[in-house]
Amino acid sequence: MSTIDWKNLPFNYFKTDYNVRCYWRNGKWGELEVSSSEYIIMHMAATSLHYGQEAFEGMKAYTGKDGKVRLFRIEENARRMIDTARYILMPEVPEELFIEAVVKAVKLNAQYIPPYGTGATLYIRPLLIGIGPEVGVRPSKEYLFMVFVTPVGAYFKEGFRPVNMMICREYDRAAPLGTGHVKVGGNYAASLLSMEKAHEAGFSAAIYLDPKEKKYIDESGPANFFGIKNNTYITPASRSILPSITNKSLMELAKDLGMKVERRPVPLEELEEFEETGACGTAAVISPIKSIVDPDTKKIYVYCKDDKPGPVCTRLYEQLTAIQFGEIPDRFGWTKIIDI
Ligand code: PLP
Ligand code: COI
Repeated sequence: MSTIDWKNLPFNYFKTDYNVRCYWRNGKWGELEVSSSEYIIMHMAATSLHYGQEAFEGMKAYTGKDGKVRLFRIEENARRMIDTARYILMPEVPEELFIEAVVKAVKLNAQYIPPYGTGATLYIRPLLIGIGPEVGVRPSKEYLFMVFVTPVGAYFKEGFRPVNMMICREYDRAAPLGTGHVKVGGNYAASLLSMEKAHEAGFSAAIYLDPKEKKYIDESGPANFFGIKNNTYITPASRSILPSITNKSLMELAKDLGMKVERRPVPLEELEEFEETGACGTAAVISPIKSIVDPDTKKIYVYCKDDKPGPVCTRLYEQLTAIQFGEIPDRFGWTKIIDI
């Protein structure tokens, strides 16, 4: 679509032509349907509306240097949606159905896949929601699984430029044994106020601490956290963070680049020792962190003095995006080329 200003797309909803849908009724999945409506009709007593019985995923389609369209580790997203579904008592979307729906949604909206070199991608949003009526707190008997796509630019407006973040002590996004490790909408509702406060204070994101002891770093807004020191990639192990597929990939890339990798609780004091820090996720890719402010202790941890991303963040970013955009061979088998 020649009228789209690909280079200046925000990370926001942009209407495309079709979405795909599949209903769970009478204990089984129906046929995949194509819809051109942006709206869903559901019962006003639907469990997703009242009791948050909903799961979502997020991934991207990338137009490569060779003009081919790639998906990145999509089966990992399928498995994560299965984990989420199990945790909040929804039927699992089988991996094959998930992949079929995603590929179909991308192909049907081929004209909205941003061209190579624009920095934009096609964001893919699978959604699984309880649509059947229940007034007592119990799982729905009917579900809708759907996938829509929308072309997006960078999540943090800075793109691959260092951003400032603040430690959030006032609020948690998840409970110690709650839903932080799965992708349910409630986690994001719980983060809205703290994120808004962080934005109002001039920060790109809030960094959450472990909700039990408030001693360790959990994650940074809608992205996992990592720190680099002594040629080591260090990222939090925590029950209350979302297992990020980007982070998992960066750990493998770091190893491949000859770095050590540690996944373990990261005490707050360790912020002092890192040479670089970053936030990573599908939407954020890698967002290098310029500084982290702790409003309670008034400490400021600075990682980029000259506004430039550090060398390790840069190397990891280049490697990851080069694989996603087909600029180098995919030596890990992470990408799936789809025929458009
Ligand atoms: N953490 C949270 C809370 C997220 O919402 C996301 C985005 O999905 C991530 C981390 C990054 O996960 P991924 O790399 O799988 O996109
Ligand atoms: C993603 O990185 O895909 C996310 O889901 C983050 C956010 C937009 C919720």
